Amino acid sequence: MAKITIVGAGNVGATCANVLAFNKIASEIVMLDVKEGVAEGKAMDMLQTTQTLGFETKIKGVTGDYAQTADSDVIIVTSGIPRKPGMTREELIGTNANIVKSVVGTCLRYSPHAIFLMISNPMDTMTYLALKATGLPKNRIFGMGGILDSSRFKYYLSQALNVNPAQVNGMVIGGHGDTTMIPLKRLATYNSLPVSGLLSAESLNKVVADTMVGGATLTSLLGTSAWYAPGASGAYIVASIINDYKRLIPSCVYLDGEYGQRDICIGVPAIIGRNGVEKIVTLDLNNEEKALFEKSADSVRSTNKVLKEINAL
Ligand code: 2OP
Repeated sequence: MAKITIVGAGNVGATCANVLAFNKIASEIVMLDVKEGVAEGKAMDMLQTTQTLGFETKIKGVTGDYAQTADSDVIIVTSGIPRKPGMTREELIGTNANIVKSVVGTCLRYSPHAIFLMISNPMDTMTYLALKATGLPKNRIFGMGGILDSSRFKYYLSQALNVNPAQVNGMVIGGHGDTTMIPLKRLATYNSLPVSGLLSAESLNKVVADTMVGGATLTSLLGTSAWYAPGASGAYIVASIINDYKRLIPSCVYLDGEYGQRDICIGVPAIIGRNGVEKIVTLDLNNEEKALFEKSADSVRSTNKVLKEINAL
């Protein structure tokens, strides 16, 4: 029996709630939003699918009433504004930093034992901010990005290979930014066969480039940030936490020497279970990948620096 709070009942938060309920992952979901009526309305709409979709999850929508989130096991933070076409995720920092900081602090008062999953953008920096602002142990706050970027990588790989996407595997590490993420093309496979032997270098590089701007492509098509894959990715992580599945999930976690980095939250593979981030898995990166990771970390760090400039940290 797990209680999940989703702060922000926008497209991503509501999709996440819907997947959690439909797939019977959570027994109780609270969606909280600042916009009067939105969370209540979306909860009511979802509850009216209980019979047609066949789930019994309790879903409650509230406007700003944090007391309703009390004793949650997992808190998903999607608060803040999404990007518009032409914007980078990093440009959202000024608006989202203070919102995220206050949301996390308030949630923690009502749910002192919760695990926090950060989705708000710029996600790596928002995860770092939440961790630093709350002082929580690093296993209890991490961010969702790598799993989403990996889903996009696998999608583009399956399109290039013209094969069943369920048989394609691949991982994206590094920051969750258009120029910071690192699709690991060397390690990607199609049913255990390295894709590097199946695609030309040119088409593999195109897959990598398309993956990196995968979110931006959707933003320009939709006029706002994507939600189906981000919401489902959040739910996939929640399932691993509350059922202690110990899935290996590329996640934005705090590094303390791993991958040669300290004092930064950035995407690397990690085992996610009942205690949140249970283990960081170290990949044997080659020199090219190591250099890309360092560059990615530098870029995330420069966004983190803005937190001080805007007095968020
Ligand atoms: C995305 O890439 C929401 O950042 C998220 O679509």
